[in-house]
Amino acid sequence: MTSSAPASTDPRITQVIRRHGARADALIEVLHQVQELHGYLAPESLRDVATGMRLPLSRVHGVASFYHLFRLEPPTAHRCAVCLGTACYVKGGAQVAARIEQRLGVRLDDAAGDGVWALQHVSCLGACGQAPVLVVDGELITRLPVDQSEALDARLEAAGLPQRTTT
Ligand code: FES
Repeated sequence: MTSSAPASTDPRITQVIRRHGARADALIEVLHQVQELHGYLAPESLRDVATGMRLPLSRVHGVASFYHLFRLEPPTAHRCAVCLGTACYVKGGAQVAARIEQRLGVRLDDAAGDGVWALQHVSCLGACGQAPVLVVDGELITRLPVDQSEALDARLEAAGLPQRTTT
């Protein structure tokens, strides 16, 4: 470990970097911990990480935007994650995602959503036997009736996903 990293603007980010010794190979872990501070990686945070770790900002931004686990937008008040892993996909996960996009009026994987709701895809939630599944504000919803549109809408409504569009 080294403590010779230059100070960044946010002292909490400096602390995170010091904990990892400003090693370039610790960039992902540093970004992960910095994201936990604010719930996302703001442009200023990325700049602070680049400065503190003595890395080009383009590299820090490249890593942050490459990995799905990093958010570059502030979190919305409500979040929905639809599983598009193999088991869920073959059981209609894509149709579920499309229906939710329609209900909420947001695009899949647009982290900013509409400012209130955001919809993202995940690759597996460990509940393949209950596919297709999704998570709404932390609650796992299983065995969605993809082939019955009214029943699907009822389940989505009950899960707390509002009908925010007229279609
Ligand atoms: S593929 Fe969806 S829970 Fe595993």
